[in-house]
Amino acid sequence: MKLKTKEQIENYRDTGRIAAEILTTLVDHVKPGVSTYEIAKLAEDLIVNKYDAIASCIGQYDFEYALCSSVNDVVCHGIPSKEEILKDGDMVNLDITVKKHGLVSDTSRMYLVGEVSADAQKLSRVGQECLYKGIDQVKPGNTLGDIGFAINKHATRNGYSIVREYSGHGIGAEMHEEPEVLHYGKKDKGIKLVEGMTFTIEPMVNQGSREIEHLDDEWTVVTQDGKLSVQWEHTILVTKTGYEILTLREEESFKRTS
Ligand code: MF3
Ligand code: CO
Ligand code: CO
Repeated sequence: MKLKTKEQIENYRDTGRIAAEILTTLVDHVKPGVSTYEIAKLAEDLIVNKYDAIASCIGQYDFEYALCSSVNDVVCHGIPSKEEILKDGDMVNLDITVKKHGLVSDTSRMYLVGEVSADAQKLSRVGQECLYKGIDQVKPGNTLGDIGFAINKHATRNGYSIVREYSGHGIGAEMHEEPEVLHYGKKDKGIKLVEGMTFTIEPMVNQGSREIEHLDDEWTVVTQDGKLSVQWEHTILVTKTGYEILTLREEESFKRTS
């Protein structure tokens, strides 16, 4: 795992800010009647033309879009589609990666479309809290196990489950680097955090069981029981005393400063 230099960290702040701003811009475009394809194309246009950056999801493995769009029971890696029209009551995760200054930032959030059920709103809120509980554990000397433990505990105490087949990841010049950042684990176990590390935390929280299935498109991951799943993701830097959320959005600033 490569530790980031002072100069890289400056650049990483810019890369992260771009991804954060795009997620916020998309809020006004996620509404009933819009297809996930249109949203992905808008995100691509913003990344490339407004921010002069690279949509690094495109061509990663064989993915063709600037973001993954995961609706309702889709856990992650949903493929944007013209046929997938958002409707009142849906919830969708939009997961974007932006490469600039040779560094990749990776972040996602949930969007609630129109009027969403109270159960779904609660799941989304707890999912975001799980991300924050994980982030709260980030400081030199703590371990990856501390992060996973805190996340899984918050999910299960709310009656939800954590998907285990997908994890957060180291990030830098490449989207996916070492180490794996599991969203479950044991206190004090696993790699020790060191100043200058960058990785994502991105828990997938299921309303029902944690079991998943893969669709025939070889990308889309869904819940086995058909219940809802949510995900929230940030790119995090380990600092001397704690963490910095490189992809922090403006609306989060009041509750997350480090
Ligand atoms: N953004 C996803 C993640 O959080 C990865 C997307 S896979 C890609 O790791 F192929 F779309 F890039
Ligand atoms: Co992502
Ligand atoms: Co990621």
